Amino acid sequence: MIETLKDHFLNPRNVGEADEPRFTGRAGSFVCGAAARLSVQLDESHNVTEARFKAAGCEVLIASLSILTERVRGKTTTDAALMGQHPETLAVELSVEKDKVHCVQLACDALVAAICEYSDVARNEWIGEEALICTCFFVSEQTIEREIRDKGLTTVSEVTRACNAGGGCGSCQPLIVELLEASWD
Ligand code: FES
Repeated sequence: MIETLKDHFLNPRNVGEADEPRFTGRAGSFVCGAAARLSVQLDESHNVTEARFKAAGCEVLIASLSILTERVRGKTTTDAALMGQHPETLAVELSVEKDKVHCVQLACDALVAAICEYSDVARNEWIGEEALICTCFFVSEQTIEREIRDKGLTTVSEVTRACNAGGGCGSCQPLIVELLEASWD
């Protein structure tokens, strides 16, 4: 076991729940039965001020959650979501065995789920003139509709390539699908 992984497993940082108001993500694995919960608190600039976790699982899961909760502090929700979307980066860094990569994935899924919860709330509370669809990249409904129309986009990944929408936590992707479907009428 590499030293970083061992250290974070034996001395896990940030165990517990972030203070209220917090946004919480949960993830579980049918492969090994592990479960993880990660909560974040944010400041008014959408930066993570606190991240904490609770988990039942193996050393890789505990270490991954400990490391992620340390690294997301001070990051924007967008950067935190992007970190969670790339479990392979952490798995390689920690030299995780192939059959344990899903434990790193689980930790990352809990992080992304916490950011999704924040994004859903922020979208609903948005009071700007144009409806906000993607809170991670601050992309409005009008912008996405225009990109779809002008460039003839037909998939979420094409929309993401065109204007970033959907490329962070992913919570806006069902809404992008709705806009794509509406463009077919
Ligand atoms: S709201 Fe997070 S990717 Fe769009």
